[in-house]
Amino acid sequence: MNTNMMDDLEEVLYTKEEIAEGVKRVAAQIRNDYAGRQLVCVGILKGGFIFMSDLVREMDMPAELDFMVVSSYGNNTTSTGALIIRKELTCDIRNRDVLIIEDIVDSGRTLSYLKEYLSGRGAASIRICALLDKPSGRKVELEADYSVFECENKFVVGYGLDFAEKYRNLPLIGVLKPEIYKKA
Ligand code: IMP
Ligand code: MG
Repeated sequence: MNTNMMDDLEEVLYTKEEIAEGVKRVAAQIRNDYAGRQLVCVGILKGGFIFMSDLVREMDMPAELDFMVVSSYGNNTTSTGALIIRKELTCDIRNRDVLIIEDIVDSGRTLSYLKEYLSGRGAASIRICALLDKPSGRKVELEADYSVFECENKFVVGYGLDFAEKYRNLPLIGVLKPEIYKKA
């Protein structure tokens, strides 16, 4: 990896400003849809943490925050479906409205598994809010109820998204140069 993370990008997809604007737009949709209700926001670590921290501050409504850590069996750029829960929820979601906050929906496997898992815990409702939606990557039927951007089938990093645990702290979202993940 270059010392300047930007040198590893093929292009910038969304700037800091575009992300901030998109996050505000989605936060307003959520506030509108859940008016008068109190949400439990479940952030999926690590990818969702930056998005979640910005989103919940723009929502302007009561919300409880919790986190899960999940990892899928698979390599760095694709997931296989089997999911390991590495950190459980700490709050009781029975009869609660749950909003799962995730970095990206690609194959849809992670979130379709999680949705089923959380509905087994007795949630009253479960919706998904993803920073990015990659519909072309879908392997199972799953829709994000909210997404900030729809992106094409390219491997992206930044604003929480990683490749091999790097680039999460880039303030923008960019396409990683294929030579970076091909040599890994
Ligand atoms: P899914 O189960 O295939 O929908 O995969 C979701 C997970 O794969 C995300 O939470 C990411 O960690 C990872 N992922 C999928 N596409 C990308 C990408 O373009 N960049 C970084 N991570 C990705
Ligand atoms: Mg990841």
